[in-house]
Amino acid sequence: MIRKYVYGIPFETESVATEMEAVKGTPAYGTVCMEDGFRFACALDEEDVVYGLGEANRGMNKRGYCYISDCTDDPDHTEDKRSLYGAHNFIVVSGERKFGLFFDYPSKMTFDIGYTRPDQLTVSCQAADLYLYVIDGANAYDIVKQFRKLIGRSYIPPKFAFGFGQSRWGYRTKEDFRKVAEGYRENQIPLDMIYMDIDYMEAYKDFTLNEEEFSDFPEFVREMKEKHIRLIPIIDAGVKVEPGYEVYEEGVKHGYFCKREDGSDFVAAVWPGWTHFPDVLNPEARKWFGDKYRILTDQGIEGFWNDMNEPAIFYTPKGVQEAKEAVKEFFQDASGEHSVFFQVKDAVMGLSNNDRDYRSFYHQTADGERVRHDRVHNLFGFNMTRAAGEAFERIDPDRRFLMFSRSSCIGMHRYGGIWTGDNRSWWSHILLNLKMLPSLNMCGFLYTGADLGGFGSDTTRDLLLRWMALGVFAPLMRNHSAMGTREQECYQFGDPADFCHVIQVRYRLIPYLYSEYMKAALNDDLYFKPTAFVYPEDAHALQVEDQLMLGDEIMIAPVYTQNAKGRYVYLPEEMKFVKFLPDGSLYEEILPAGHHYVEIALNEVPLFIRRDRCIPLAAAAEYVEALDTEHLTLIGYPGAEYRFYDDDGVHKNYEDPEKVRTLKME
Ligand code: GLC
Repeated sequence: MIRKYVYGIPFETESVATEMEAVKGTPAYGTVCMEDGFRFACALDEEDVVYGLGEANRGMNKRGYCYISDCTDDPDHTEDKRSLYGAHNFIVVSGERKFGLFFDYPSKMTFDIGYTRPDQLTVSCQAADLYLYVIDGANAYDIVKQFRKLIGRSYIPPKFAFGFGQSRWGYRTKEDFRKVAEGYRENQIPLDMIYMDIDYMEAYKDFTLNEEEFSDFPEFVREMKEKHIRLIPIIDAGVKVEPGYEVYEEGVKHGYFCKREDGSDFVAAVWPGWTHFPDVLNPEARKWFGDKYRILTDQGIEGFWNDMNEPAIFYTPKGVQEAKEAVKEFFQDASGEHSVFFQVKDAVMGLSNNDRDYRSFYHQTADGERVRHDRVHNLFGFNMTRAAGEAFERIDPDRRFLMFSRSSCIGMHRYGGIWTGDNRSWWSHILLNLKMLPSLNMCGFLYTGADLGGFGSDTTRDLLLRWMALGVFAPLMRNHSAMGTREQECYQFGDPADFCHVIQVRYRLIPYLYSEYMKAALNDDLYFKPTAFVYPEDAHALQVEDQLMLGDEIMIAPVYTQNAKGRYVYLPEEMKFVKFLPDGSLYEEILPAGHHYVEIALNEVPLFIRRDRCIPLAAAAEYVEALDTEHLTLIGYPGAEYRFYDDDGVHKNYEDPEKVRTLKME
């Protein structure tokens, strides 16, 4: 059961897709104080576990830290960070009492989950203008499913998006892309997508192409498609300020950019230099910006990734001016006073993503009202991606497009997926990736994944292999890295056989992964779950933070420690331990419930099949369209049945019952 409460005059975020009457009174489970902003407080019992918050730091159990929903471009995902790129204000408290809370609020919001006081949860924000949804249910899983229904069906990508994608910031020329395509095809490593980072554009101008390098782009798109590889370009939030550039000229002319208080267009520096931000909260501007994607879809492009849409700000003219003054003052009068030095440091270090800048521009909303950006900050990435999603509906209402974004807010899950931004080539980030996956699913984001191998810092062969053995199971499986770091395409580490094997396992599993994805999306269900959701009565399962349940059939437990030859794993029930061995064969062993140490070599992919279940496996293929889903083998427990969903992966007629068939393992 869901109850909706209203406080003050909320901004209509459109995060929730279901109309509901608000009820009067105070919510059960906690107290609300509106004296100084808004504050919800409730006691936490010793045994309570808190789930949710989507793309957030630390554990699946969020207890013991303080998180701030405030979409932030921060490439240093260290353990102390409170804000990442997304704002996903849904939590579930699960113990004696079981309830979910969704705070439908578009600006900065603090979740103190037993941080200030271990026995207290407080959720607070500056303005007491929001909707609060309180969800009662039998258990955490049931509460999550109710919430998912409330916020509407998750985005469904085309099937090719379940293939493997290679990306790197720095591919510039056709030759660079051809080299990647050859590197994969010549080594028979499966590949479906190559991502185009900002260097394909002319001077980082959205919806342009560097004509010198990409003359006759449609022909190049075709050339790649003949190899069964799709090019997926990036689109950034900032539109370059450059007279004569069509997108800039049109935006200025129609007033489609975010404005300063005096009505002039707000200016901020991002990759292209000075830019304006499209006012994606204004439906007219959103339509205009969305229709620009057509420039690329008309040339054969079928998918995009939206970036820098927190929106990230490197600096603004005002910030630079102030920093300059501080520096000047310091050098004129370096008196040895540390306070001046720190002022200069703060002025320079604080140039990027500064709150002051977010307070200095405005949006025009659907009802013609003007709203200051900081009050709706977390809605920008959502609405940029919505711009694209709504445009795709106009471009071809029957077709699915690939779309994922860096910044997001609940509501955006209906229009696209997300990738988890600029992680590092750190072992700890494999585990962070794993922990985020179910939390993201709870908040509606099913099509997600991390930069495999790590975006920043130099990767190592073993790190990439181990990370990919987790990535095999994530709907978005992409290797991406930053300019200047060690090259990490799968053929850069000597004999690529091990990488080839791991990615082949992915492709063998795609019929199953896709089927589970579709079932999760169509039923507002989870693709990844914490073990506790499946075994709520099991005290050990409640504590597991490094294993995940996938669909209804399997559990995954990747290795995430350097030089480890295996790992400990907890089985809440008897399961079949399966390893995909590099020679293409399977190792299978039934393990009883309990704790086990399992050996897993660097080039093996492990999974666990639940008792009396089975999953389908295809023969490996070099690209998704070549997968033969008619001839599947089943692995698991003989006699088990599997309900297999399949469709053409292109169109949207999902509900056709013929798309589900029952497979039985002999
Ligand atoms: C941002 C993105 C990253 C991209 C880079 C250059 O850091 O998060 O994925 O490679 O910008 O566009």
